[in-house]
Amino acid sequence: MAEQASRSVGPIVLLGSPGAGKGTQAKRIAERYGIPQISTGDLLRENVQRATELGVQARDVMARGELVSDTLVCDMVGDRLQGQDCLPGFILDGFPRTAAQAGWLDAFLEHEFFDNSHERRCRPIVILIDVDYNQLLLRLTGRRTCLANGHIYNVHFQPPREDEVCDLDGSRLVIRNDDREEVIRERLTAYERQTRPVAEYYHRQGRLFTVDGSLPVDTVTAKVFQEIEGHGGMA
Ligand code: AP5
Repeated sequence: MAEQASRSVGPIVLLGSPGAGKGTQAKRIAERYGIPQISTGDLLRENVQRATELGVQARDVMARGELVSDTLVCDMVGDRLQGQDCLPGFILDGFPRTAAQAGWLDAFLEHEFFDNSHERRCRPIVILIDVDYNQLLLRLTGRRTCLANGHIYNVHFQPPREDEVCDLDGSRLVIRNDDREEVIRERLTAYERQTRPVAEYYHRQGRLFTVDGSLPVDTVTAKVFQEIEGHGGMA
């Protein structure tokens, strides 16, 4: 799975409910295609940890499992996409999550990102990782994340070799603050209400590819790569 692809890709959007496996798959895509993973959840958590102005505004909203305001998130993504490392492509993990964010992304890619001289693509390939609601609770309550690099484990499905220790860098594994049952339910409700319509928006435009995320991790990865390489994700 770690084998690197030799051709470049354009923007990739990963959609899916909390716990669908976006972060898990985004890391593998990043490694294979040599492009950055831009996780709005990770960026927001970093801001909360550093107590930046954005972090202070986002902290309580995230703790309740609700969505942070479109303006704050779009500004944050806009800044991140200016990075030179995004030129060959990037993976958006957890963005867009509302109709307003999807509209913002289309406009941003069309007006600010597309560049003929670099032949960069301005239309993302959009992949929905679809998982049955009943599996998600178990996935999220069993998730453990490494403190140093965010490597993802699951006590039920992907346990580390040694309890609470990352296989890859030896750092401590922690439970995310919003992986408590009452917050998880709120996050799943926000997904159904605000993010499901985003998938429908891309579906109507014929830009959505769906992968069954309830399959084993490696099988999901193989299917995601297939979609990227078979449906025009390659530049
Ligand atoms: P965010 O960090 O984006 O969280 P999320 O969308 O709720 O998604 P998760 O990270 O929980 O799940 P995932 O799909 O990445 O699954 P993972 O790979 O970890 O957002 C957090 C908060 O930030 C939001 O609630 C909101 O407040 C705010 N926010 C973020 N973006 C925003 C935006 N755009 N607008 C507004 N607010 C925003 O996998 C889950 C578990 O399952 C792991 O334990 C993993 O090991 C396991 N697993 C993965 N795949 C499989 C498999 N195939 N089989 C078995 N187990 C699997």
